[in-house]
Amino acid sequence: MSSSKLSAAAFLLLLSPIGAFGYTKNYTGDGAPIAPLSPPYFPSPVTSGAGDWADAYVKARNFVDQLTLLEKVNLTTGTGWGQDHCVGNVGTIPRLNFPSLCLQDSPLGVRMGTYASAFSSGMNVAATWDRGLMYKRGYDMGAEFKGKGANIALGPVAGPLGRHSEGGRNWEGFSVDPWLTGVGMWETVKGMQDAGVIATAKHFIGNEQEHFRQSGESNSFGTHEPVLQAISSNIDDRTMHEMYLWPFADAVRAGVGAIMCSYQQINNSYGCQNSHLLNGLLKDELKFEGFVMSDWGAHHSGVDSGLAGLDMSMPGDYTFGSGTSWWGGNLTTAVLNGSFPEWRLDDMATRIMAAYFKVGQDPETYPETNFDSWTTSDYGYLHNQVQLGWGLVNKHVNVMGDHHIGIREVGAKSTVLLKNVDGVLPLGGQRQIGIFGSDAGESPLGPNGCSDRSCNKGTLAMGWGSGTANFPYLITPLEAIKARAIQDGTVVQSVLDDYAYAQINSTALQASVCLAFVNSDAGEGYVSVDGNEGDRNNLTLWNNGETLIANVAANCNNTVVIIHAAGTVLVESFVDHPNVTAIIWAGLPGQESGNALVDVLYGAVNPSGKLPFTMAKTREDYGTDILYEPNGLIPQENFTEGLFLDYRHFDKASIEPRYEFGFGLSYTTFAYSNLTIKKVSNSTYTPMTGFTAGIPESNKTLGSPSDYTFPEGLVKASKFIYPYLDNATAIPSDSTYEAPEGAYDTSPQPIPAAGGAPGGNPSLYDVIYEVSATISNTGSRGGEEVAQLYISTGLEDDPVNVLRGFEKVSIPVGQSTTVTMHLNNRDLARWDTVKGDWVVLDIERTVKVGSSSRKLPLSATLA
Ligand code: NOJ
Repeated sequence: MSSSKLSAAAFLLLLSPIGAFGYTKNYTGDGAPIAPLSPPYFPSPVTSGAGDWADAYVKARNFVDQLTLLEKVNLTTGTGWGQDHCVGNVGTIPRLNFPSLCLQDSPLGVRMGTYASAFSSGMNVAATWDRGLMYKRGYDMGAEFKGKGANIALGPVAGPLGRHSEGGRNWEGFSVDPWLTGVGMWETVKGMQDAGVIATAKHFIGNEQEHFRQSGESNSFGTHEPVLQAISSNIDDRTMHEMYLWPFADAVRAGVGAIMCSYQQINNSYGCQNSHLLNGLLKDELKFEGFVMSDWGAHHSGVDSGLAGLDMSMPGDYTFGSGTSWWGGNLTTAVLNGSFPEWRLDDMATRIMAAYFKVGQDPETYPETNFDSWTTSDYGYLHNQVQLGWGLVNKHVNVMGDHHIGIREVGAKSTVLLKNVDGVLPLGGQRQIGIFGSDAGESPLGPNGCSDRSCNKGTLAMGWGSGTANFPYLITPLEAIKARAIQDGTVVQSVLDDYAYAQINSTALQASVCLAFVNSDAGEGYVSVDGNEGDRNNLTLWNNGETLIANVAANCNNTVVIIHAAGTVLVESFVDHPNVTAIIWAGLPGQESGNALVDVLYGAVNPSGKLPFTMAKTREDYGTDILYEPNGLIPQENFTEGLFLDYRHFDKASIEPRYEFGFGLSYTTFAYSNLTIKKVSNSTYTPMTGFTAGIPESNKTLGSPSDYTFPEGLVKASKFIYPYLDNATAIPSDSTYEAPEGAYDTSPQPIPAAGGAPGGNPSLYDVIYEVSATISNTGSRGGEEVAQLYISTGLEDDPVNVLRGFEKVSIPVGQSTTVTMHLNNRDLARWDTVKGDWVVLDIERTVKVGSSSRKLPLSATLA
């Protein structure tokens, strides 16, 4: 092993003097403690076309071979915030007719687009526990990005995972459980990339809270002490592998083309220059063959970040609109003066182009970018940041197709029925429906009335921030219910003012059923909404939802509460109220919100959603919480709970949740029987051995600096990031830069034991057991059920149960179905921090199958 590569054992040693995140010395000068350090990992692994990247790699190599130094630099560096039409664009290669690559948010649709769909949130599609719907949503979104001429879609999200229930962006991702999130990543990446767009798994990694994710941003709020640098998520090696890295491994194995590194630090090294994470875990261990882009402004160094594994700087300038870049001309300079090896630049460009070819993009056939992020008008600036040039920027290509069908289906099938006394739902022919709360209706400002949805008015169907899309329309619950109720001759009365208690009470008195709509919003940390700086300040309802419910329930003995929320909320104030007969969690369902809800309320769809997180009785029950006040100039967040998040924590600490992870009722009932386990393979986990091929030195002659200055006659756009040198004399003849040890080493490197193929050691994914069970529909309606498989090792340092499988099936009344789930080596493995590898212990495990993390009627021993 090269001296510059630390084994995980050494990594552990590095951590160990400070114990489990104890501290040894004061480095901030103000009494704040020192935290763990991320070990160096060099050299940066080069892509080699592993797995199903072979063809794309050959095409990419051929393409990159034709490029000049300037052209390669142009591929790796954004042109600057607001300088082109997408939230990020790289430079063009006019000589080869290669257009600028367009990078566009978001994980739920084309952000800032017109005539594009607003899909359900990632959290909602996770709540369907339906692989087919996850794939379809990904495919439909991918088709929309392609139709708009965006090459790279900035989603899906596996970071945040959801360590904090209050976390502002949890809803952009899938679930706090890494296994479920892994499935969400896999299906979404497959769907998006099959449709032809490059998917981006983000934010790598440990990006669990909005507060202090960037120092400048959080200082701008002025509501807490200023910080010097971004927060550090301090994560130990086992937790990293078994929790946070897990879903990224699934994304890499699914062939994801891009990964976005995160704003904050991990073990006190910034996400976009953390060589242990980018070179080590991502490119060596997981053998990621695509490219790493920085989050917007998460790029903090020139040569160092590139050597540490960053491949693309976004949006190119180091603060938005500054016109100055760590890369661009500076990267050209670094290659010319020898501080940045050309092989590394070749690898960066090859990775970008391999992702491009892997999803089948081609400059001849891929649609040109036909939308603009900065205006919805037809005409606008060509360089909006500097208000330069003018032309047709929005062609308003309608890419929505029939995607509303899938959006409605995800909306309905992600709806979680939490309480349903005596079958009050589905609604029969009602005499009079009372509808209450602003969350039932349209925002007076319109569905897109606040930029990036940064206000909570009207019905809530997505959170706020860059993870949004413009609603092409938003079907409100009120309009959908009215349209349906007319079929039964039902009277519908509504009071949307959350505080009009006199009207609320008198209307509630008249109704045969009262629907109380409440919500709780969250979003990204660059905006503060109602005092919530991205992360929620609490888990209570917005707009005094609890009081609204109390008023309705006091006057109506058939009150149904409908919750639109960015995650969990506390329901204790009303859950046991005798007049609250039903509770529905509808999450953030997207544009078809009202229709999806009506499908469930009236029984056209039998609810089958299951919670992708635990709903606790108190906020404290979760055991983890946002760091709202900095605990030093460089805030330190120690992930000391390790593997024990959400249900794993509740199980360990014997805390009774209100509604457990995986819980959700149906209008029918299911019975579980016949658990059988079959061993289908004798494959054992086999550590990888051997060495990489080494890195061929570039044999190109670079010429002289004067070949790299701005071409004569070029009309420069102000603040635009170019690859050129300002002047030919700016380059010192010898580099004075001291690179990290091993960074220039081109010799063959050992392949990590846990590595070897995209997603990690291939033997991890060998299926060992087939687990099947019979599920019978014992009720009076057809319905869908999600069978869940948990494993228990009984070891003290393992969670009581961990999710390791699920299967959603549709079962007619009175019939039974067999579900079959598979367990592979990874499902049985644990990360050994001393070996720096996975191990499958030879122990007895219990396999449990049931309808939620706490209702597991079937169990058997796995010998
Ligand atoms: C910052 C966000 O963290 C990221 O998710 C997004 O893709 C970029 N901004 C671009 O808008």
